[in-house]
Amino acid sequence: MKQIDLSLYRRIILFTGAGMSAESGVPTYRGKGGVWSRYDYQEYACQAAFERDPEKVLRFHELRRRTVLDCHPHDGHRLIAAMPEVCLITQNIDGMHQRAGSRDVVELHGSLWRLRCERCGAGKEDFGRSYETLRCDCGNWLRPAIVWFGDLLDEAVMHEASELISACDLFVSIGTSGAVWPAAGFPALARRAGAYCIEINPEPSGTISYDLVIREPASKALSRLFDMK
Ligand code: OAD
Repeated sequence: MKQIDLSLYRRIILFTGAGMSAESGVPTYRGKGGVWSRYDYQEYACQAAFERDPEKVLRFHELRRRTVLDCHPHDGHRLIAAMPEVCLITQNIDGMHQRAGSRDVVELHGSLWRLRCERCGAGKEDFGRSYETLRCDCGNWLRPAIVWFGDLLDEAVMHEASELISACDLFVSIGTSGAVWPAAGFPALARRAGAYCIEINPEPSGTISYDLVIREPASKALSRLFDMK
């Protein structure tokens, strides 16, 4: 397989989705066994559900936290963390890249490990299997700081991601179905920037035509593509 010499590129973006964590054992969202085939997002992952029954929604997210904590970063996560001078933009909320050592990860869809209060604006980090508390000091329910269905992306995060991608010359999409916007538009943005575009995904994702497509699991493809020795 063709190898990519990172020193030939000045601005490198790695853009990851749920398939990046699949080999760690974290379920993806779509397809067989996917989170949304087992749980109705209208019951668990939208603002209306939270307003109807906050405890039910919080318990679901607690379950997801436990699943993630029982899984561990794989060689692909570690290889990314060891890559010099790359920008990592992820749709994943699982924090797996950070656990592997990546820093300054742009988390487009928020994080399972942060909560916020919609009433007083307080934010809280919480890394345990169970939430320390479901309530803010002001008495309101704490809401997972995640972009749910129907939510807008954080403007500053979206701006940062768009700026980075608009200036990139190498764009590597890893393990995303391209089903969710605006993230699904990022490969096309990189293409317009003139970047060399690579897709790593065992299945076709059907977003843009890439310069290089690798139909292999993330860890294998990454280690063959980027020889870090
Ligand atoms: P999806 O579940 O939609 O897609 C996962 C992709 O990973 C699929 O295209 C699979 O073919 C691919 N895949 C599976 N195993 C893989 C492996 N070992 N290596 C590489 N790729 C593999 O997940 P996303 O595209 O991330 O939103 O979904 C986007 C958003 O939809 C998520 O961020 C989530 C969800 O609703 C939030 O959590 C807010």
